[in-house]
Amino acid sequence: MRAALVASEPRAAADPGAIRIVRAPGRVNLIGEHTDYNLGLVLPAAIDLEIRIAFVPTDDRRVELVSSATGDRARFDLDAIGPRRRAWIDYVAGTAWALAEAGIALHGLRGILVSSLPTASGLSSSAALELAAAWALADSPGGNIPPLSLARICQRAENAYVGVNCGLMDQFASACGVTGDAVLLDCRSLEFRPVALPLATHSLVVIHTGSTRSLTTSQYNLRRAQCEAAAAALAAGNPAIESLRDVTPAMLPKVRALVGDAAFRRCRHVVSENARVVETIDALAAGDLDAVGRLWAASHASLRDDFEVVSPELDALVEIATTVPGVAAARMTGAGFGGCTINLVARDAVDALRDAVAAEYPTRTGLVPRVYAVDAVSGAGFLAD
Ligand code: GLA
Repeated sequence: MRAALVASEPRAAADPGAIRIVRAPGRVNLIGEHTDYNLGLVLPAAIDLEIRIAFVPTDDRRVELVSSATGDRARFDLDAIGPRRRAWIDYVAGTAWALAEAGIALHGLRGILVSSLPTASGLSSSAALELAAAWALADSPGGNIPPLSLARICQRAENAYVGVNCGLMDQFASACGVTGDAVLLDCRSLEFRPVALPLATHSLVVIHTGSTRSLTTSQYNLRRAQCEAAAAALAAGNPAIESLRDVTPAMLPKVRALVGDAAFRRCRHVVSENARVVETIDALAAGDLDAVGRLWAASHASLRDDFEVVSPELDALVEIATTVPGVAAARMTGAGFGGCTINLVARDAVDALRDAVAAEYPTRTGLVPRVYAVDAVSGAGFLAD
C-alpha cells in the first residue's frame, strides 16, 4: 500500500534532498500609515514572525499545499488557475497568476505551509504568504528579478486577484526587509533605504488587540477611494496634483472648501503623516526618542480623528502603554479597525509593559491581548540565504 502511494507521488518527493524551504516575514509599520497608496512615505520593518513553505518542486503543473495549522489541503493547476475562492490559497494562486502575467517561469510543487504570523492582525500575513509563494513557485530564485519588482507583482496579485486595493508597503517590507533596520520607502519614486533603530537599548514590541477585523477590506477600499476622489477633485483646479502626495500643508485651508469636511480630514492625515515620517527619521538619527514619542502620538491621534481607522481597543492599548515608564513611543500600526499597536520600549521596561497590558486591557475591553517583542529581519528568500 505504502509503495503504491509513493509510486503515485511526483518523483522528487521520494528524495529528501529535493526539499526546499522558503521564508517570508510579516511587517510592522513604524510610521507612515495610509500614505503608500497616496504615493507618500512609509517606514516599515520586516519582523521575525514569518511564513515558511517547505516543498518539493515538480515537473507537472499542479500546486498542492497543506496548512500545518489546520490540515487544510488546497490545490490548483498553473494552466487553469480559475477565479478566487475566498480562501488562503487565493494568495498563492493570485501570486502564480501575477508571476505568469509578468512572464516569469513557474513550476508545480507539493508543500506544507507553516506560520508564526497571526492572521488578520495587521502584520501582513497576506503579503508574507504572497512573497513565500513567489519564491516557492518561480523556476529561478525570486524570479531572477529585484525584490522590489517581486513585491510589485505580489501587490498586483492582491489588487487584481484577491480584490484588496492595498498599496505597496506590505509586500515591499516582506521582500526588502533589512536585518536590524527599518526601511524607508518613497512610494512615488520607489527609492528606499535602511533606517537604523535604537535596538541596542530599545525593543520593538507589537501588541495584538485580540479583536477581529471583519470590516477591514471594505473600509480600507473606501478610504483609498476617498483619497483618490479628493486628489481628483483637487487636480481639476491644479493639474500639478497627481495624488495627495502633492498636497502641501499650505494648500490645506482651501482643500476643505473644495472637497468637503470628511475628504478634507483624510487629506490632512496624509499630508501631516508624510511630514511625520521625515521628522521621525530625523529624530531617530538624532537619538531624540522623546520626539519620536510625540510624533507617534500625533500619528495615532490623526488616524483616530482625521482618518477614522482607530478602534477603541487600539486606543486602550496605546493609552495603557503610554503610562508605563520606559515606553518611548506607541501607536496603532497597519490598516487599523483592530489589529495591533507598535511600541518602542526600553529593553528593561518590556516586562513592565507586558504586566500593565495583562492587568488593565482585559478588564477594559473583555479581550485577551498578545504581546510580541520582535526583531527586524531580512526580506523573503530561501531559508539558507
Ligand atoms: C494595509 C495595506 C498597506 C497600507 C496599510 C496602511 O496594511 O496593505 O498597503 O496601506 O494598510 O498604512
